[in-house]
Amino acid sequence: MKNRLNIKHLNEEITGISTPSPLQFAFCRKKSAHAGGRAAVIPREEQVSRFEQALKQPGDTAQQRCLYIHIPFCRVRCTYCNFFQHAASKTMIADYFAALLKEIRWKAQQPWTQSAPFQAVYVGGGTPTDLSAEQLLILGKTIRSYFPLTPDCEITLEGRINRFDDSLFENALEGGFNRFSFGVQSFNTKVRRSAKRLDDREPLMRRLQELSAVNAAPIVIDLLYGLPYQTMDIWKQDLQDFLESGVHGVDLYQLVELGGMPMQAMVEKGSLPAPADTAAKAKMFEYGVHFMRKHHIKRLSVGHWATSNRERSIYNSLAKTTAAVLPLGCGAGGNVNGLSVMQDRTLENYLKSIETQQHSVAMLSLQSSDAAVHKEITAAFDRGVVSRSALRQVSGSDLFEYCLPLFDEWQKKGLVEVEQDYLSLTLAGQFWAVTLAQNLITVLQQDANNTNNKQQHAAA
Ligand SMILES: C[S@@+](CC[C@H](N)C(=O)[O-])C[C@H]1O[C@@H](n2cnc3c(N)ncnc32)[C@H](O)[C@@H]1O
Ligand code: SF4
Repeated sequence: MKNRLNIKHLNEEITGISTPSPLQFAFCRKKSAHAGGRAAVIPREEQVSRFEQALKQPGDTAQQRCLYIHIPFCRVRCTYCNFFQHAASKTMIADYFAALLKEIRWKAQQPWTQSAPFQAVYVGGGTPTDLSAEQLLILGKTIRSYFPLTPDCEITLEGRINRFDDSLFENALEGGFNRFSFGVQSFNTKVRRSAKRLDDREPLMRRLQELSAVNAAPIVIDLLYGLPYQTMDIWKQDLQDFLESGVHGVDLYQLVELGGMPMQAMVEKGSLPAPADTAAKAKMFEYGVHFMRKHHIKRLSVGHWATSNRERSIYNSLAKTTAAVLPLGCGAGGNVNGLSVMQDRTLENYLKSIETQQHSVAMLSLQSSDAAVHKEITAAFDRGVVSRSALRQVSGSDLFEYCLPLFDEWQKKGLVEVEQDYLSLTLAGQFWAVTLAQNLITVLQQDANNTNNKQQHAAA
């Protein structure tokens, strides 16, 4: 490896723009929700057999592992959401649930699955809380009886407050769910209605207070900033409402505008005001960070806070690191034995595959040899701190030293602070954490490609 990264050819999209307000203007906008590296796609005809083989090998027992189960239904599509797959109906959910149980029993028997315990399980969606109370009980019990889990395994149920009554909560707890993550987005009734959220502020608040007061499991919520009608004053009230709700943790996400969201067509038609621009969202993030600090709420990552030790957020932190994630369900994604896998998003294909016990693979790729480095970068920026020793551990060299020219450039732009062995994100850097992680991964990938090309030329 050369001593230092050459950054002469890098443009402002990578190094950031020089501006008195890097928080608002260092980059144009956040382009995706998560950072990640490129992987080599395996030819279509080999995908199913390669994945089958991967599950037949025992896994690396030292590698941490999680289980992700996807429930791809929602009763109503929210205007800002890109995760929506299918409108829920009782019969569709029943058919899906039967297939999912089959998949659970089948995948749980695989040598890879049985070779080491899982530290975290996440049942996400879509809206898993749209399952019935009976289904939640069965799902929790099936997961616990078929998969090897660590004694302190975090088992999260994601969803929303709407129709999440006592029978659902009690059955979920009895099934073994020990963490609940609800999308709230905003407490404000006008913002909620315009986003097609299903409850008004008061019933939502009451229910969150009730669930949190039971003190049976951490209740955490997601808040979004930048939604149509969500002014800075409404955002301030949203944060105040989070405190009043008594929940144990909160994620603050900026609204990411991706193509195909129903909101965009509504804004174009004039039936909805435009959402906040990046500069306005940056100020909302700043307020959120100051608010949490003022109220002494513990920060677990750049966008996640906990009011109680009960909230550990194991899945979210593990899934961003080098942990393996076994994906189950239609549209679920993960990585197993060095392969990144995405299951089929088409319900019909998924049901047919499970029926005939065929792997429902829509995309399979070989994780690059640098996947561990890229994952560490993603996780480090999400924590807000990049450490020299952690980078050395995954890369086998002093990658921190190598990247210093880019780190110094970011420091000049007010995005990071570089000390001897650590790079820490400033408030501006925290807002741009995903962009910075993605930029670093992109630069390292280009650099590796250039080095390979030069070596090939030299050898020819
Ligand atoms: C896939 S949803 C599932 C949760 C649940 N169905 C609900 O209604 O809240 C998980 C989270 O993704 C976030 N999300 C959805 N669309 C988003 C967007 N366009 N930008 C940023 N975050 C988004 C929301 O905060 C949401 O709570
Ligand atoms: S935010 Fe949740 S309920 Fe709304 S469409 Fe997305 S996944 Fe479904």
